[in-house]
Amino acid sequence: MSHLMNTYARLPVAFSHGDGSWVTDTEGKIYLDALSGIAVSTLGHNHPDLVAAIAAQAGRLLHTSNLYRMPQQEQLADKLADLSGMDEVFFCNSGCEANEAAIKLSRFYGHQQGIDSPAIIVMEKAFHGRTLATLSATGNRKAQAGFEPLVSGFVRVPYNDLEAIRAIAGHNKNVVAVMLEIVQGEGGIHIADVDFSAWSASALRRKGMAPGL
Ligand SMILES: Cc1ncc(COP(=O)(O)O)c(C=O)c1O
Repeated sequence: MSHLMNTYARLPVAFSHGDGSWVTDTEGKIYLDALSGIAVSTLGHNHPDLVAAIAAQAGRLLHTSNLYRMPQQEQLADKLADLSGMDEVFFCNSGCEANEAAIKLSRFYGHQQGIDSPAIIVMEKAFHGRTLATLSATGNRKAQAGFEPLVSGFVRVPYNDLEAIRAIAGHNKNVVAVMLEIVQGEGGIHIADVDFSAWSASALRRKGMAPGL
């Protein structure tokens, strides 16, 4: 019996190593890896350049605290800012931390605008993670059940319903952000309509999303 906390319905397969797009399990069976991480770590397995870079860094320094500058981190932030056209980068370890940061930044923006109780519009069937705020933003009771009380400050609308968002953002002056997946995955595969995603992208590009969009 494993002492690992049971938080995930895992398949009875464990992998020992991989090469490119292929992975080998502990029984020696070889699989084509068409999944990788769940939408992450999609660089393939055992690439010599990546292995060399990780090994070289591990031989120099594994960790320093956030109390000090990290030149490589700054270099990567510059590159990401150049590629994305955004001003600043926040590094974190997971999707839910990224979404937590987005929620906090939106609320912070709201408070700067004099909004004491900022609200974020979220979608039905959304999935945003399993921390307390992100499961509250998630539109699936299964992720929330047993963890109430949920974090407040989310207003839910049907996916692809641009009119509903406009109406709520128009009459609710506390709305500071809209949070959505361009392609929903966990709640079934739902793709944003062209109008909906174009509007979302232009709203995202705007610096500081204002109420009354
Ligand atoms: C759309 C979406 N958002 C957020 C998350 C949470 O990411 P993480 O598991 O890295 O915290 C996931 C994870 O599958 C996801 O699919």
